[in-house]
Amino acid sequence: MSHSSDLIATDILGYLKSHEHKSLLRFITCGSVDDGKSTLIGRLLYESKLVYEDQLAALEADSKKVGTQGDQIDFALLVDGLAAEREQGITIDVAYRFFSTEKRKFIVADTPGHEQYTRNMVTGASTADLAIILIDARKGVLTQTRRHSYIVSLLGIQHVVVAINKMDLVDYSQERYDEIVASYHEFAAQIGLKGIVCVPLSALRGDNMITASEALPWYTGPSLLEHLENVVVEEDLQGLPFRLPVQWVNRPNSDFRGFAGLIASGRVVPGDRLRALPSGKEALVARIVTQDGDLPSAGAGQSITLTLDREIDVSRGDVLVAADHPAGVADQFQATVIWMHEEAMLPGRPYLLKIGTRTVSATITSPKYKVNVNTLEHLAAKQLELNEIGVCNINLDRSIAFDPYTENRETGGFILIDKLSNDTVGAGLLQFALRRADNIHWQALDVNRQARAAQKGQKACVLWFTGLSGSGKSTIANLVEKQLHALGRHTYLLDGDNVRHGLNKDLGFTDADRVENIRRIGEVSRLMVDAGLIVLTSFISPFRSERRMARELLAADEFIEVFIDTPLEEAERRDPKGLYKKARRGELKHFTGIDSPYERPEHAEITIDTRELSAEQAAERIVSRLRESGIFETDYNSALAAL
Ligand code: ADX
Repeated sequence: MSHSSDLIATDILGYLKSHEHKSLLRFITCGSVDDGKSTLIGRLLYESKLVYEDQLAALEADSKKVGTQGDQIDFALLVDGLAAEREQGITIDVAYRFFSTEKRKFIVADTPGHEQYTRNMVTGASTADLAIILIDARKGVLTQTRRHSYIVSLLGIQHVVVAINKMDLVDYSQERYDEIVASYHEFAAQIGLKGIVCVPLSALRGDNMITASEALPWYTGPSLLEHLENVVVEEDLQGLPFRLPVQWVNRPNSDFRGFAGLIASGRVVPGDRLRALPSGKEALVARIVTQDGDLPSAGAGQSITLTLDREIDVSRGDVLVAADHPAGVADQFQATVIWMHEEAMLPGRPYLLKIGTRTVSATITSPKYKVNVNTLEHLAAKQLELNEIGVCNINLDRSIAFDPYTENRETGGFILIDKLSNDTVGAGLLQFALRRADNIHWQALDVNRQARAAQKGQKACVLWFTGLSGSGKSTIANLVEKQLHALGRHTYLLDGDNVRHGLNKDLGFTDADRVENIRRIGEVSRLMVDAGLIVLTSFISPFRSERRMARELLAADEFIEVFIDTPLEEAERRDPKGLYKKARRGELKHFTGIDSPYERPEHAEITIDTRELSAEQAAERIVSRLRESGIFETDYNSALAAL
C-alpha cells in the first residue's frame, strides 16, 4: 500500500513522475487529541512510510521514553511532538502534511494546539475536499461533533467520513456503532450534510485503518485509507469563473508591468477579457508569464503573472476577474461569522477583514442571531463568544470584490483580525451584499468645516479626555472649557455621565455597550468638528481600539488625546461618587479598574499626572500647551506637530 521510498533515492525524476498522474485529496480531521486525532494522523503518515527516517528513529525512542503505549509506537507523538517543536518557533495555525500511497497523494491539514478551538479547524477546512470527523465510541456524538459538522457543512465540504474511533474500548460492539451512526445521521440530515461515510475503527490498534480488521467482521465497508484512496472528488475550482486576487504588481522596468498572484478559480488564456475590481476597468490578457516561460493557459491553484494589452490601474489587493462573469463589488454585507477568540466579538469595534489579498477595516453590527449548534435554533445575541456562530451585517471602509461563499469559497470567505494584537479572531462567509449602501450617498455641501471654523476664528478639533472613573477628567475638562470660552473660543463639552442620560441612555457598562458608547461619541465629535467647534469629551473610554477608532474618524491634527493619569489607588481613595466602594462590595458589576479593564494610552498627546497637579494647574497646563504650540493661531498644523 505504501509507496516505494527507494525511488526517491535512486530516481527522483521517476519518483516525481509516478506522483504526477495521481490525484490529490485534501482533507482535515476534526476532533480533539482525546478522540485520538493525533494517533489517527500519525498512523496514516507512518503506514504510508513517508515519515522521514530520522523522525521515525526519534519516534521509536520517544515512545519508549514518554509514550503511553508500552513498547509499541505511540503515533500521537509523531504529530504532537512536531507540534511542540513548532510552538517553540514561529506559530502557525495549520501544518499541511503530505503523504502518498500508490493510488493517491494526500494533504492533511493538521491543526495542532488547543483542539477545542475552532480557529485551526476553520483555517484548515477552507481548502479541504473532505473532512474526517472523529467520534470516541465511548462518548458518542458530542456538542463538539455537532459544531464541527455544522462548520464543515457551512464551509461547503462535500465529503465527510465519520471515524468512530476506540472501537476496541467498546468491545467492537456493532450495537454501539449502529447507535452512534443513527444519531449522527439524524443531526447531519438537519444541517443538510451529505456524502457521509461511517467507519468503525481503532486508530491505536490499527483496526480498519489501512485494511479490514478481523475484530470487526460485521463491518463490510472500506477501511479508512481505502475510502480516502477511492472517494471521488470533483475538481470544481477550474470550472468556476476566473478570479485572480493580485498579490503584487511586478514592475522591474518601465517596459514590463505584470500582475502576480495565485489563481483562485477558473482558467485564463491570452486574449481573455478581464475586469479589474473594484475599479471596473477592462483589458485583454497579453501574456501568462511564469518562471519557466510563458504559458498558453493557466488555471486555479497556479501562481502566475499576467500582462495586459493596455495600461489600466490595478494594485495589490484588487481582483482580476472574467469580464463576462464578473464578481460583485460592495462595502456592506450579510455574512455568517464564526468567532474564534476568547475575547468576545464586539459589535461596532473595528476589525481588519482579510479577503483574498485585500485587507480592509470592518465593523460588525450586532448579530441578527446566533445558532445553537445542538438544536440549530436561532437565538438572539448581542455579541458572539468563543466558538459561536452567528449571522451579522458587516460594514467595510471601502468596497471589495467578492462572490457569495456558496458560489465561490475562494472569493467569498474571509478572516477577521484584531487591529491591536494582530490575532485572527474570526472567520466568515459572505452571503450577499446589502443594497442599501447603493442608495445612500454623500451629499456635497458648499459650506464646509473650514468655512464654519474660520467664521469662528478657530481651528476645530477634539480634546479627548480619557482616564479612570474619579480620575478628574470631567473636573479638568470643565475648567479647560471655561478658559477656552473666556478666550472667545466656541466649544462644546460631551461628558460621560450627561450623555448617558440622553443619547446613550440605552447603554450599560458591558464591553459591548462601552464600545457602542464610544463609537457614538466618536461620531458625534466628528459632526461637531464639522460644525467648526472645539470639542471636549470626557469618557473613561477604557479600550485602545475605540479611542483609535475615534481618532481615525478625524484628520491627524484634529484629535488630541489627553490622558488623565490617576492611579487606581488614588481614584479609589478619592471615590467622589462612592462607586468604588459599591464595586468592592460587589454591588456594581463591570466597574472599570475593578472587574473591567482600563487600557492605558500609549501615545497620548498630553498626559496629566493628577498627583502632581491640582485640577486648576492641570487645566492651566493643557491650555498653555495648546497656546504655546500655537494651536489658537492660524498655522495650526505645524503647531500640533510641536506638541
Ligand atoms: S465608558 O467606559 O463607556 O467610557 P463613561 O465615561 O461613559 O464610561 O461612564 C463612566 C461613568 O459612569 C463613571 O464615571 C461612573 O460615574 C458611571 N458608572 C456607572 N457604572 C459604572 C461602571 N460599571 N464602570 C464605570 N463607570 C460606571
